[in-house]
Amino acid sequence: MPKQKKAVRIGVLTSGGDCAGLNAAIRAVVHRAIQGYSWEVLGIKEGTRGLMERPVLSIPLDLGIFTGNILRMGGTMLGTVNKGDPFAFPMPNGKVKDRSGECIQGLQELGLEALIGIGGDGSMKILSRLAQKGGFRFVGIPKTIDNDVAFTEFSVGFATAVDTAVDALDRLQPTAASHHRVMILEVMGRDAGHIALNAGIAGGADVILIPEIPYDIKKIAEKIRSLHERGRNHALVVCSEAVKQVSGEAVVESHVDGEMRYSGIGHILGDQIARATGAETRVTVLGHVQRGGIPGSRDRIIASAFGVHAVDLIAEGRSDRLVAWQHREVVDVPLEEVVTRYRSVDKGDALVRTARGLGISLGD
Ligand code: F6P
Repeated sequence: MPKQKKAVRIGVLTSGGDCAGLNAAIRAVVHRAIQGYSWEVLGIKEGTRGLMERPVLSIPLDLGIFTGNILRMGGTMLGTVNKGDPFAFPMPNGKVKDRSGECIQGLQELGLEALIGIGGDGSMKILSRLAQKGGFRFVGIPKTIDNDVAFTEFSVGFATAVDTAVDALDRLQPTAASHHRVMILEVMGRDAGHIALNAGIAGGADVILIPEIPYDIKKIAEKIRSLHERGRNHALVVCSEAVKQVSGEAVVESHVDGEMRYSGIGHILGDQIARATGAETRVTVLGHVQRGGIPGSRDRIIASAFGVHAVDLIAEGRSDRLVAWQHREVVDVPLEEVVTRYRSVDKGDALVRTARGLGISLGD
C-alpha cells in the first residue's frame, strides 16, 4: 500500500498588545494555508504563555470557524499576552526564569513545520530568538497601533487606531467651539508619534506634540493666541502619551503590578496651556479604545495581504522573514534586521512637512 503523505501543519499565534485586524490576519493565514496548500493550521492560544502550558493551549483552525463575522471582529480570537518574556519570565517569587525551552518543547509537541507570529517589535524579538534557539521556521506579521515596526510603512491595527483618534477629534471640535475651550487629546503610540501625527493632520488639530520633537510651551501659547487673533474661539491639541516634559522625562505612573506606564502628559499640558494663555482647557485621554473596535477597511486589507504572503513564504521554504508593506507592495524583509531597528517619526518625514505646511504647531 502506498505510504500516505503526512499533512503539513503550521501554527499561528498573536503576541503583544491586541489591536484591530488581528482576526483578519488569522483568517487570511487559515484561508491561504488550507485552500492554497491543503495544510493543517493550529491556533496557539494566549501567545507564548500558551506554549508553556501542558497540554499546549491550541485549537485546530479550519475554514468552518470563519462563518463570516470573524473578519469584522476586534481583539484576537486566540488571545494574547504583552508581558512575560519567556527568556526572562517573571515568577511569583519575584525572580525571573528562562522558560524559552518550555516554549520550544511545546512547539515540538504540536508537530509544527513552521510558525507564523502576529506581533509588534517586542514580540518579533522574542519569537525570532525562540526560532533561532529551537531551530524552527518562523515568519512574522507586523501588528501594532504604534506603527513602530521597522521596514514596514503600515502595521496591522494602526489605521483603525488613527481613525478612532480622528473620530475623537471630530467629536471634540464642536464642544470646544461651543465652550471656547482648548481641547487636549492624549493618544497612545508609546515612543513613536505616528498616531498623533496622522490623527492630528486628518482631524484638523492646531497643535500636534510627538515624543520625537521636544516642545516649548511658549510656542504652543503663541499658536493659540494667533488663532484667537484671527477670530477662532477654540483650539485642538493632540499629544502622544510619551511626549517628554521640559526636564526631558516622559510622564509615567507606577502600578501595583510593578509596571511603569505612560500616563498624564495630557493633563500636565492642559494646565500649562491654561496658565500660559488664560484659556479654559479640558483633557481627553483616549486610551484603549484605540486598540479595540471593528477594524477599518485598510487594516482588513493589510492583514489579509500579510496573512497570504506569510503562508506563501513558508510554502517557498523561506523563514526568518517579516512581511511588510512598502511602496504599495507586500514584501518581506529579514527579521534579524527588523529586530535591531525602531521606526519612530523622522523629523524630515513627509507628514511632518505637511503638518508644518498647514501651519500646525509641532511645539518647537
Ligand atoms: O503598544 C501598544 C500600546 O497600546 C501602546 O500604545 C501603549 O503604551 C501600550 O500598548 C499600553 O499597554 P497596556 O495594554 O499594557 O496598557
